[in-house]
Amino acid sequence: MLKVINVVGARPNFMKVAPIVEEMKRREREFAPLVVHTGQHYDADMSDAFFRDLELPEPDVYLGVGSGSHAAQTAAVMERFEPVVLQERPDWVLVVGDVNSTIACALVCAKLGVKVGHVEAGLRSRDRTMPEEINRVLTDQIADLLFTPSADADQNLLNEGIPQERIRLVGNIMIDSLYRRLNHAKQSTIHQKLGVSDGDYAVLTLHRPSNVDEPDHLAGIVKALAEVASKMPVVFPVHPRTRKKLHEFELSERVERIDNLQLVDPLGYVDFLQLYSGARIVLTDSGGIQEETTALGIPCLTLRENTERPITIEMGTNQLVGCEPERILAAFYAAVEKPSSNDLRLPPLWDGHTAERIVSSLLEYSR
Ligand code: UD1
Repeated sequence: MLKVINVVGARPNFMKVAPIVEEMKRREREFAPLVVHTGQHYDADMSDAFFRDLELPEPDVYLGVGSGSHAAQTAAVMERFEPVVLQERPDWVLVVGDVNSTIACALVCAKLGVKVGHVEAGLRSRDRTMPEEINRVLTDQIADLLFTPSADADQNLLNEGIPQERIRLVGNIMIDSLYRRLNHAKQSTIHQKLGVSDGDYAVLTLHRPSNVDEPDHLAGIVKALAEVASKMPVVFPVHPRTRKKLHEFELSERVERIDNLQLVDPLGYVDFLQLYSGARIVLTDSGGIQEETTALGIPCLTLRENTERPITIEMGTNQLVGCEPERILAAFYAAVEKPSSNDLRLPPLWDGHTAERIVSSLLEYSR
C-alpha cells in the first residue's frame, strides 16, 4: 500500500489532482491518498468551487498560507508543509504544475528524503522572468519521477541533464478532467445567465504579472478588447489579481464602459468549460487554457510572447500574439474570418487516461 500526499495550492492545480486522487481511490488496495491544500488560493470562487465541480475530496490538511510576496508565500508553504510530511511519513508526494506551492512542497521533500513525483514536468517557456519558469526548472531538478504531457517536455528534461529513467511520458492530465466533465458541463446554464449564444462570442482571461502588473501592457489589452467587443460579445471572468490592477491603474471605469463586454467573477470549472467550449475564440494568457482549447479545437490567441506549451501551436489552434493591440486585433480578424474546421488534431496521449498511467508508474517505480 502506497501512502501518497497529493498537493494542491492554486486554481490550476485542482483539475490536475482530481483525476489522480480519483484513480488512487479506485485502487484502494494499492493506494492511500491524502490531499493537502496549501491555501495559496483561498477565495470561494478560486478554490471551493473547484473542489465541488471536480468532486475532489475535502483536503485532509489545509495549510492556509494565503497571499504574500513570492518569498513569503513559498517560505510559508515550506514551513507548514514540513511537519505534515514528518507526521504522515508518505511513500510519495505528488506535486503538479508550476505554482509556488509546487516548488515549495517539492523542496521540503527533497530535503527530507521523501520521494516526489512532478506531474506536468518538462514544460519550458525559456523566459526566466516568469515566476512559473523558475518553479518548473527547479522542481524538475529535484523530483524523483517526472510525468510529462508531451514529447517536447521529455526533450527539455534530457537537455537539462535529467536521466531518461526519471522521465515518464504519460500525456496531459488536464484532459482527463476535461473529458470527464464535458457531458456534465452541457447542463450548465451559463450561456443563458450571460445571454450569449453558442459559437458567437469571445472569452477573455488575464492574470499574468507580465500583462496585468504593467500599466502600459494592461492598457493595450483593454484597447484591443474594446474593438473585439465591437465585433462580438465578450465574456471576461476577472481574476482577483487583475481586478485589483485594473483598479490601481484607473482602468476599471474604462473597461466597465465597453459595450458588449461582460465582466464576471471567476467561474467554476464546469461553467467555464461550458463557456469556452461554445466560444468562437478565446483570448488568454493562461497556460492551461491553451491546452484545453487545443483539446476541443477552439481557436486561441495567447497574449504572451512565449509559451511552455508549443504543442498547442503545432496542433494549429493556438497562436502567440503578445499584448500590443495591433497584433492582437490582426490575429483576431484573421482567426474569426477563417472558416472553422472539423479536423481536430490531438497530441498523443491526450486521451483522458493519464491518471491511470501516473498511478501505475508510481507502483512500478516503488516495486
Ligand atoms: C498563481 C500562479 C500562476 C497561476 C495562477 C492561476 C504562482 C507563482 N503563480 O498566480 O502560475 O497561473 O495562480 O490563478 O504560483 N488572490 C485573491 N484570492 C485568491 C488568490 C489570490 O484575492 O484566492 C489575489 C491576492 O491578492 C494575491 C493575488 O491574487 O496577491 C495573486 O495571487 P497569487 O497566488 O500570488 O498568484 P496568481 O497571480 O494567482
